[in-house]
Amino acid sequence: MKEETTSYRWGWLSALAIFVLAGVTGALMRFGNIYGFPWGLQYANVRHAHSHLMYFGWVTPALMSLIASQLPAVTDRPLSRRFRWPIIMALIGGLLAYTPFLLYGYRPALVAGRQVPLSVIFAGFNIVAWYLFIWRYWQETRVSPRNYPLQLWDGAVIFLLFASLGGWGLAIITRLQIEDPFWSLAFTHIFLDTFAFGWFILGLLGLAYTTNPSAVGSKLARFSINLVVIGMPVIFLLGMPQHVVPPLLRWLGALGGLLVAAGLLGHIGVLWPLASVKWKAPLFFLGLTAVTLLITLHPSAARCATIAGLRIPYLHWLLLGFVTLGLVSAAQEKWGEEAIPGRRWMTLTVILLIISLMPLTSLWLPFLRGVWTRHFNAWASIGPALVGAGILIAVWVHGRRRQLNS
Ligand code: HEM
Repeated sequence: MKEETTSYRWGWLSALAIFVLAGVTGALMRFGNIYGFPWGLQYANVRHAHSHLMYFGWVTPALMSLIASQLPAVTDRPLSRRFRWPIIMALIGGLLAYTPFLLYGYRPALVAGRQVPLSVIFAGFNIVAWYLFIWRYWQETRVSPRNYPLQLWDGAVIFLLFASLGGWGLAIITRLQIEDPFWSLAFTHIFLDTFAFGWFILGLLGLAYTTNPSAVGSKLARFSINLVVIGMPVIFLLGMPQHVVPPLLRWLGALGGLLVAAGLLGHIGVLWPLASVKWKAPLFFLGLTAVTLLITLHPSAARCATIAGLRIPYLHWLLLGFVTLGLVSAAQEKWGEEAIPGRRWMTLTVILLIISLMPLTSLWLPFLRGVWTRHFNAWASIGPALVGAGILIAVWVHGRRRQLNS
């Protein structure tokens, strides 16, 4: 069997094509704010379409492809073809929900005169892909000794399962028409926050340790994984708006956040001196996320951060700075710089985009404010999608040349 059909690079590249679409959708929001939205599109719906596509169409199948491709390195088993369907289903599920979210958001669509909640139905299709991936992962690893990357991936898939329970909870209370703001927000945040902090972060840390085996033996690494895993189940309480969370529960969330932040800083301490230069930028953004998490543990600091408009920069430090750059670094370490070019360009454009978010916060210097900040932000928002498209074109050209030469 050819390497290409078995190594899941196709899964990663297909997810990257979805990243380009999701990135263009993000840029559309920025330009839409300046010049207006085309075809009657609405800001809130475009935002849902963007965030869903990034979570479920880009990061999830890209992470699945990398974990599946790296498993032989940590289990000593041959590469398995079992992950083909979960990856394909995750790619299709991410894409299917995109158009209904873009047009209707969470509202039902009108199909043949009937109201059908298309976006929710298609989003549910993703859950099937995750469960199939978890099942395949268990089949492939159950007999293997739990070395360090496997422990991190065990944690990642357990939190993927836990996050999906938030999705089920939300669906059940909507079906039963229970209008309780605490439970509806709790399920939303179990779903999204555990997905990002549990599945994404632990999945990526597992990849970082696979390619840096000398970091595995460290005592600090072993201690740090425990902190992250113990704190993770309650971290969603910190993401919820403070007025719906009773003070005691908010402090429980803060304790969880403290453990997670300390654990993440521990991982950075272990990986920073040993990991290749490819991991420096992702680890820097993970550090920024962990420090901000620490600062906002206190309710009044969290309130100040929200008022200052730090929510969107904070999300993108983690999701773009650590997760997206980490996925590119891990892909380059797995398949080589020739097979996945453009990491430096991606890093540069992501840093530029993240810098361009700061003038939109009240932390920005007042004498540097002006209309130019919105234009700078809009133009900077296209960079990562352009680089993603450039990587795909370069891979295609390279493949054609190889075909012609062989
Ligand atoms: C490729 C570059 C990206 C661009 C241009 C971009 C752009 C945007 C914009 C304009 C917003 C709305 C901001 C606001 O309402 O003030 C947003 C929100 C968001 N983005 Fe991104 N983004 C990018 C990458 C990502 C990635 C990689 C992820 C996740 C993996 C992500 C997840 C989110 C989430 C969760 C929100 C908040 C959604 C909400 O509040 O409903 N973004 N992004």
